[in-house]
Amino acid sequence: MLVLGIDTSCDDTSCAVVRDGREILSTIVSSQTDIHSDFGGVVPELACRSHILNILPVLDQSLRAAGTDMDRIDCIATTNRPGLIGALLIGLTAAKTFSCLLGKPLVALDHIACHIYSVQMCRPNIPFPSVGLVVSGGHTQLYYCRDYSRRDLLGGTQDDAAGEAYDKVAGILGLGYPGGAAVDDAARKGDRNKIRFKRTYLEKDSLEFSFSGIKTAVLYHVRGQDAGRCKKTRRRRRSQSRERGGTADIAAGFQESVVEVLAAKTILAARKKRVGAVTVSGGVAANSRLREVMEKRCGECGIEVFFPVPSLCTDNAAMVAGLGYHYARSGRTSGLTADAAAKVSPRSGKSTRRRKVRK
Ligand code: KG4
Ligand code: ZN
Repeated sequence: MLVLGIDTSCDDTSCAVVRDGREILSTIVSSQTDIHSDFGGVVPELACRSHILNILPVLDQSLRAAGTDMDRIDCIATTNRPGLIGALLIGLTAAKTFSCLLGKPLVALDHIACHIYSVQMCRPNIPFPSVGLVVSGGHTQLYYCRDYSRRDLLGGTQDDAAGEAYDKVAGILGLGYPGGAAVDDAARKGDRNKIRFKRTYLEKDSLEFSFSGIKTAVLYHVRGQDAGRCKKTRRRRRSQSRERGGTADIAAGFQESVVEVLAAKTILAARKKRVGAVTVSGGVAANSRLREVMEKRCGECGIEVFFPVPSLCTDNAAMVAGLGYHYARSGRTSGLTADAAAKVSPRSGKSTRRRKVRK
């Protein structure tokens, strides 16, 4: 079965053609980074306008790259929640239009379920139930995954998503936007033990996350404000910036704090739910140190850990087409009345404070 996938949930316009849920024939992502970088975050109105301009060229390109055409597509899958409402509507409307005009079934999918499925595309037969950590620019959530579509939310961020914290810290360190990959690169050159930023675990055994404190801690460190009220000490601290760690050391210290919390809580969730497999997906799953630490810690606990290949970590329509195949095969198609939703219901997981301009 050939499925055309569409994703316009945030600032990337993506279309992909996937055969039988796994074989990626094409995946095209048109990034809007250049448009939003001046603002230090995604500007919803600009994202929507770009999706309108991009959706048809990206669709054409994906069909051509797959060596196919619309007539040979069996099903159209799109994400309709959660995300930027205006952006979601563009992908959903395009999918509905093709479905209606060409008489092809439509599948409307949860973007988070697609991220979790992206791991299965790289490594089939990951056992269920498993624990799924979704870490992206808009989400940091832990799920108990019963199968491809059924999952229970175990915990999520109370403030910033992990990717959002990466992007903000990148801004503080002057590494540009979006900055997750740049912080990852800088951290590789730094000493992760030079500056120890606080790890926020919240209450004992909590599976909730909080990343706004670490972002502020980095800001205060850079400004020398962590020296307290004494002006003289603050001046001295600022002038000792070399000793206090350059950009690479700060990036490494920040990253270590985020990664340790993510790894500890994911393992705690797996233990609580007595599962032997965890998956990590979303843009931050591309992070080199997160992969390293998760592999080490999970290995020590006898838990298997699975990641998607880096190209499937960030937003892409291949994961949408992939999951769409399973839905279509089991008859879980959507009607033309399917609507877009900025958030999802608490049963299957709430969306976080997604998609405001991130500063
Ligand atoms: O999954 P994604 O494309 O979009 C959402 O669904 O939000 O994730 C984008 C996020 C951005 O915050 C970006 O900075 C982060 O993923 N990211 C990374 C890395 N690559 C992308 N964060 C840490 N390390 C990376 N290597
Ligand atoms: Zn995403």
